[in-house]
Amino acid sequence: MNSSFALKPGQKVLLIGGAGFIGHNLALELRRQGVDVDIADGFRVNSLLNLSIQDDETQDIDIYKGFLDERLELLRASSTEFIISNATDRYEVSKILEKHYDVVYLLAAVSHASRSNSDPVGALQNGLLPFVNVVSELSKKPNTRLVYLSSSTVYGHFTKDSVDESDTCNPYGMYAVLKHVGEKILFETGQNSELNYSVVRPSALYGERCISRRVSQIFLENAFSGRKLVFKGDKEEKLDFTYIQDLVQGLILAGFHENGYRELFNITFGNARSVLSLVDILREYFPKLELEVTERDQATPLRGTLLNTKAKKLLGFEPQWCLEDGYASYIRWYLQRSKERGMVFNTISQTNE
Ligand SMILES: NC(=O)c1ccc[n+]([C@@H]2O[C@H](COP(=O)([O-])OP(=O)(O)OC[C@H]3O[C@@H](n4cnc5c(N)ncnc54)[C@H](O)[C@@H]3O)[C@@H](O)[C@H]2O)c1
Repeated sequence: MNSSFALKPGQKVLLIGGAGFIGHNLALELRRQGVDVDIADGFRVNSLLNLSIQDDETQDIDIYKGFLDERLELLRASSTEFIISNATDRYEVSKILEKHYDVVYLLAAVSHASRSNSDPVGALQNGLLPFVNVVSELSKKPNTRLVYLSSSTVYGHFTKDSVDESDTCNPYGMYAVLKHVGEKILFETGQNSELNYSVVRPSALYGERCISRRVSQIFLENAFSGRKLVFKGDKEEKLDFTYIQDLVQGLILAGFHENGYRELFNITFGNARSVLSLVDILREYFPKLELEVTERDQATPLRGTLLNTKAKKLLGFEPQWCLEDGYASYIRWYLQRSKERGMVFNTISQTNE
């Protein structure tokens, strides 16, 4: 991050859906920088409650519950405040937002493309309803910046190697449609209200304590368990893999920097890499790794680089983690955790995200 940018201690932030993968990492960094953080989360979507009561594609629920417990341990140790809340409830959201926040991050959603497609009503309920509730409140509060988490999937199948924020969107699937609708609603609401917002489009995130089982996580867990990797994709397929710490830096800038006002940013590492380069990095730790590539079966579009030039120029965004460094750090976290707590993965299912 540009060294001239510093947060003021005592500023207040609310993270709706903040117990999730992105939210807890963001909260920990904000606390480290002296910001007061409240997390409002229902723990029912991709979280502790649904893992406890629903059948899931994975049999590794106990390990993922361990990751979720660890998030909470870290958050408690950092003195983050928790509000257990369902953001689909208009009244609950309005009550929480009676308190003044400098920045509100809206992270609640069904964060998987495949699950949003197969359960569109669930995606609407946990994505669109919280969005409507938050926008209704914050359109009257210009001193609070709303940061909205969109997605690289709004661009649809890439027709060229790289895109920037001025490129046309052609959202692919229910998940992308909802994200894009949110962007458009923010823009239109801003025309006729005082809404103070910033939009962030991340891409292919990876990092510690993620339970979303995207390709980087599944490859790592299968390599760790001595299983063959099966990639249901195009062997030339590329993604703009972004380590969670780089996204966190960009989210803080989008929330607090004056230049974030009513702007939309690709917050990415900014250099798409072949998905199969994950395998090369894994082989340094698991030399006997086998790989099979099968016919493409993905819920997400074919993508490439999301250029981050605008975020660099307007916000001073400076991503630090190339794939070799970020993925190696993530691999070492699994190895270390396994030594400390033991981990045996049973799952045989493969990614289609
Ligand atoms: N992880 C990625 O690769 C990625 C990429 C682009 C965009 N995003 C977006 O960023 C946001 C956060 O993603 P994530 O990876 O942290 O997801 P996540 O699933 O780990 O976290 C989402 C959190 O929201 C909470 N939540 C869901 N519905 C809720 C509701 N109705 N009320 C209260 N809490 C609710 C869940 O309990 C969970 O803790 C999502 O909007 C996602 O679509 C994620």
